[in-house]
Amino acid sequence: MGRSPVRHSICAKLLAVAAALVAVYATGQQAQKGGQEGVQQQGYRNMTPGQRAAATRAFLGLGAVPDNAAAARGEPLFEQNCAFCHGLKARGATGPSLITSDTVLEDNHGERLAPFLRKGVMEKGMPSFATMTDEQLRDIAEFLHLQVEDVANRGAYHVLNILVGNAAKGKEYVEGHCLSCHTAETLAHIASRFRTPDQLQRGWVWPARDGAMTATVKSAAGTISGRVTQISDFRIAVETASGETKTVDRGPGVQVQIDDPLATHQQLVMTLKNDDMHDVTAYLETLK
Ligand code: HEC
Ligand code: HEC
Repeated sequence: MGRSPVRHSICAKLLAVAAALVAVYATGQQAQKGGQEGVQQQGYRNMTPGQRAAATRAFLGLGAVPDNAAAARGEPLFEQNCAFCHGLKARGATGPSLITSDTVLEDNHGERLAPFLRKGVMEKGMPSFATMTDEQLRDIAEFLHLQVEDVANRGAYHVLNILVGNAAKGKEYVEGHCLSCHTAETLAHIASRFRTPDQLQRGWVWPARDGAMTATVKSAAGTISGRVTQISDFRIAVETASGETKTVDRGPGVQVQIDDPLATHQQLVMTLKNDDMHDVTAYLETLK
């Protein structure tokens, strides 16, 4: 398997990326010298991090700029469904690294990845994800593209995209969209609860779920309600007030009513634009 043509093309691609990074670095050095002579005013060294990242991505011929809001939604999906085999950041584990995957590199916004994921490669241990929605698969694709950018731009891209927001606009957004549920007090020191802007963004886009979801399940056997500990299309497990966990198959005649306080928070997150997300993070980051 190590000798397959696919492997060779991956090696070739890695070499190309390495060579390109060296070239970009060299260009930077050159520009540094050139700057003195006034030949190249816009040297790599004088660029803002944003311009540098853009120059690198153009040089490497990377595809469409990843949609960061979609990637943030894709992250927990990737963690739950893929990280076990491909590693938390898609760098590989028992399954291959997806950073160097042709399927990922040749995809722009899920048009190649989504059909691939839906089908899987069962005989080789890659499960099929036929029940995921188009949107979920696209979000996972964006998450993967962001990981590729992150590696190609040596981490610069990621940091850049977390901190580019406009805090004043973020404040406006929060006042308009978030204070219907949260209060200024509950958000007051939100940033000091997270170590990095990265974690802060993750924390507000996908708040940890500490058993916030409850359900009432009606079946022929009676009615139970309590905290949901597990849920799928086929089964639901509920921990009742007495601490007992009951599992019910979701067949016909079983009615499940879910009360999820986070549902509206999540609906809002699904409508976030890239700029909104960056602005809100930038604003929350000021709330130490
Ligand atoms: C049970 C382990 C497992 C899980 C879970 C899993 N994969 Fe895979 N995946 C694999 C294996 C093994 C391969 C290699 C298949 C092959 O050799 O053709 C693979 C291949 C792939 C490839 C193609 C890599 C290439 O060579 O181009 C992509 C893309 C991919 N997986 C994405 C995902 C995504 C996204 C998820 C989650 C939605 C996921 N995988 C979940 C095991 C897994
Ligand atoms: C419809 C109500 C609703 C809206 C609107 C909403 N949230 Fe939430 N949010 C919740 C609920 C419910 C939780 C989970 C319970 C909790 O921890 O308070 C939550 C959790 C959070 C958390 C995690 C709190 C923690 O203690 O870890 C943050 C941060 C957060 N929301 C920020 C925001 C921001 C920023 C916005 C606006 C962009 C927003 N929320 C909009 C209802 C909402």
